[in-house]
Amino acid sequence: MTPNSKIFRSSTFRLVAVYLVFFAVSVGAILAYVFWNTAGLIERQTDETIRAEVQGLSDQYRILGLAGVADVINRRVEEGAGTLYMMVSPAGERIAGNLDSLPTNAQGEPAWIDFPITVGKGATRHTGRAYYATLSGGFTLLVGRDVQEQRQFRDTIQRAVLWSLLLAVILGFGGGLLVSRNFLRRIDGITGASRTIMEGDLTQRMPVSGSGDELDRLATSLNEMLSQIERLMAGMKEVSSNVAHDLKTPLTRMRARVESALRADDPKEQRAALEKTIEESDHLLQTFNALLSIARAEAGNTREGLMPADAADIVRDVAELYEPIVEEAGGSLQAEVNGTLPVRADRQLLAQALSNLIDNALKYGQSLATDEAKLVVKAHAEQGKAVISVSDTGVGIPADQRSRVLERFVRLDESRSKPGNGLGLSLVSSVIKLHGGTLTLGDAGPGLVATLELPLLPEGR
Ligand SMILES: Nc1ncnc2c1ncn2[C@@H]1O[C@H](COP(=O)(O)OP(=O)(O)OP(=O)(O)O)[C@@H](O)[C@H]1O
Ligand SMILES: [Mg+2]
Repeated sequence: MTPNSKIFRSSTFRLVAVYLVFFAVSVGAILAYVFWNTAGLIERQTDETIRAEVQGLSDQYRILGLAGVADVINRRVEEGAGTLYMMVSPAGERIAGNLDSLPTNAQGEPAWIDFPITVGKGATRHTGRAYYATLSGGFTLLVGRDVQEQRQFRDTIQRAVLWSLLLAVILGFGGGLLVSRNFLRRIDGITGASRTIMEGDLTQRMPVSGSGDELDRLATSLNEMLSQIERLMAGMKEVSSNVAHDLKTPLTRMRARVESALRADDPKEQRAALEKTIEESDHLLQTFNALLSIARAEAGNTREGLMPADAADIVRDVAELYEPIVEEAGGSLQAEVNGTLPVRADRQLLAQALSNLIDNALKYGQSLATDEAKLVVKAHAEQGKAVISVSDTGVGIPADQRSRVLERFVRLDESRSKPGNGLGLSLVSSVIKLHGGTLTLGDAGPGLVATLELPLLPEGR
């Protein structure tokens, strides 16, 4: 498609064309009105005067007779008012008037005619316009005017009108072409950019002219959308490579173990290998379940699935469940939960998030001095929010690592000796985002304090 044919097919141009037609029609109407009120008016007035004079002379013919009318005509000619008169007998002889002869086309029924006249000493040819009537007795009466100037005036106006119309159409057309070309160029920019993006270059952005108009707003929104997509894609890429990496090692290990068990003859050894394999598969399943839970929480549209619930109740339940486990591990768990905390929540996901925090506190929260984990779980209302915190007495997480540990599969070096996938805090983070709340990791001095804040439901709901 050539650039020009594209312009003609653009919707802007079509819009401009429609406007142009309306514009031309209205300009035409205005000019026609002007014409009708200037040149047309003068002509109509002249015609009226002529007709009135023909009527008057015919009346006088009836009253005064032929001689009387001839007298009147001769007098008027002498007065020199610029009117053309001619009265001829049925035989064609001139009876009165200031024309040399009756125009050749003044024949038959009364009518308007145009005819050439010769004026002045230079014998210039002018156009005359006259009305003629046949009187009783076969006489013909003709009254007319020299309309040369009128005709010139009319021609001038007519030309002006046509030129104005032509100019309006040309200007409108050119303007439309210019506007749509400009518009098209920007649309082409956006189309080009989106093609490059579709071909895989997600770093590309839509051009923004800086004028702040509709196209700019569109481009800006598209760019924001692209940034969001780019972020999500980068996240996906990272997750899938992490998943691949994290599952590859245990799977390779499992394969090697099964292989060597197959080669071994000792049934005891084979049994031990099978048991270890089951254990490791369970671990893999756990990883998958954690990933699925995160994906489910991150899908976000389950927000409609949130139900009014009492966060204090959930905290109490989880704390109660963990108390014996913590004590068995040689630690202590103290719960400080009072009253009710009405929130909108997915009970199961919120309980899972809390469990993950307590699990971490238990795993990493032993005090260096006593080797015991002292866990404190608190829940209270503060400024329209339910604030839930889990703190321990361990080494904590350095401030510069606190956002990193929320990412999937991230584990700090000092934790490698403990079991885990590095998915626990990712799930907490996704669950809290789903609930419209926040997760902050802080210093419990010593130890880590993880704080969840959820919006409280208004009273009475
Ligand atoms: N209470 C804590 N004290 C000190 N370090 C912690 C604490 N909680 C988490 N961390 C650090 O953050 C890392 C990420 O925690 P996360 O819960 O996401 O994974 P994980 O506990 O290693 O494994 P998973 O929870 O999947 O079993 C941990 O490996 C640990 O290094
Ligand atoms: Mg954990």
